Amino acid sequence: MTKSPKKRCAVVGIGNRAHSWIGGIVEQHPESSELVGLCDLQLERCQDVNEAYGTQAACYTDYDQMLAEVEPDLVIVVTPERYHREHIVKALDAGCDVATEKPLCTTIEDAQAIIDAENRNNRNIFMAFNYRHIPLCSKIRELTLDGSIGTPVSMDLTWYLDYHGHGASYFRRWHRLMKESGGLLITKACHHFDLANWWMNDTPRTVFAFGERHFFGPGHNPYIGERCSTCPHADKCEWYTDVCVTDRTEELSRELGYRVKGVRGYIRDYCPFRDDVDIYDTMSVNVRYKNGGLLTYSLNASVPFEGWNLAVNGTKGRLESKITDNKPSPGWQERHQIVGPDGELLKGKGYRITDWPSDYRIHVMPHDADDYEVKLPNIAEGHGGGDFKIFDAALADIYPETDDLDIFASAIHGAWSTAIGAAANHAIASGDPVEIPDFQ
Ligand SMILES: NC(=O)c1ccc[n+]([C@@H]2O[C@H](COP(=O)([O-])OP(=O)(O)OC[C@H]3O[C@@H](n4cnc5c(N)ncnc54)[C@H](O)[C@@H]3O)[C@@H](O)[C@H]2O)c1
Repeated sequence: MTKSPKKRCAVVGIGNRAHSWIGGIVEQHPESSELVGLCDLQLERCQDVNEAYGTQAACYTDYDQMLAEVEPDLVIVVTPERYHREHIVKALDAGCDVATEKPLCTTIEDAQAIIDAENRNNRNIFMAFNYRHIPLCSKIRELTLDGSIGTPVSMDLTWYLDYHGHGASYFRRWHRLMKESGGLLITKACHHFDLANWWMNDTPRTVFAFGERHFFGPGHNPYIGERCSTCPHADKCEWYTDVCVTDRTEELSRELGYRVKGVRGYIRDYCPFRDDVDIYDTMSVNVRYKNGGLLTYSLNASVPFEGWNLAVNGTKGRLESKITDNKPSPGWQERHQIVGPDGELLKGKGYRITDWPSDYRIHVMPHDADDYEVKLPNIAEGHGGGDFKIFDAALADIYPETDDLDIFASAIHGAWSTAIGAAANHAIASGDPVEIPDFQ
């Protein structure tokens, strides 16, 4: 096969997130990358991509066949979490580099297997931790490294998911099953644990955790069905959503910016109160780092807004940041809320509509100097602008000239982040603290 000078990219898992990467290849970096292969259990999802983007990528349902026939340079892994190990290891063994979506995988054993495969094949894994590139998160890293607060020794990080929209969505889709997603401590908190590790500039060692279902799952709503679209209680249940009705899928897809008519067959309306929901909605985790630093983390999926609070205590000061992002998509507002002329909520539940904050702030309190505030822009698109940075790097090898922050994550960072979530899940189940091994 005559190889083109462009980076030959194949994508496995043609769902929601794949469209961001496909946009990155086709629209952001067409000079340096090309889409040569698409693989999904549903062939139509791959064919939809070619039709919508005008590409001619070969379409497969058989991943091994795609790797053998397409011979990609880079495989982009965008399947649900439980398949990441298989898809990453096979791509590395086929001689490809890998860009993987978070989380790296769902267990400590899988993380070690992935690192082994990376080492034996001498290929690279690009770990797509886009949150690191959000200006606020990068700045916190800078302040924890440059001595502004000394050496970080403890961190409080609380993360909130709004109960009616984003939070509930995890309980309405495949993420609601521990075996598919690893629960929120893997699928969601992997971002947060990576940030905490990066800000602490240390390696996690010991983990203890509690987890509960206080809001979703059985016993928390008078009406339980299988899916909203087939539910006999639809007219009474305040949790009814029409998000999966055929024409709504198309509308939703446009809202999300996809060119395709809708990610076919994506079920988003499972009843969040079904008895098969086995992930936690309320979690509390303690981590001790190699050098003694302590992280106190909590994640709650039943909060009336979306956001996070952070405090980092260092040997020479403290920094704090409080983030509230509570603006849902425009379509969501139209469907669920009516807002008065002064922004008051006249009808609807969940969010109170406000504008996105135009900036984020960090309050820095050095022990031996006046406190001060740092403002950072809030970039509304592409996960705070992080997506564009990771596509630049993974698809076009565009890296900053200097990288004092060590901003790009690799497999070992993915392993540490997954390891905290996996250890926390284990600790919740067993009641015992869990030690994280050294990844070799
Ligand atoms: N970094 C971020 O900000 C971000 C945002 C969203 C999703 N993600 C991650 O991206 C990944 C995909 O999430 P999503 O929301 O796109 O999910 P999704 O369900 O929309 O898409 C997953 C796709 O994978 C396909 N698939 C499942 N098993 C497969 C298999 N064995 N072989 C081939 N295809 C298979 C499904 O048919 C589906 O089309 C997850 O790991 C998720 O955590 C990351």
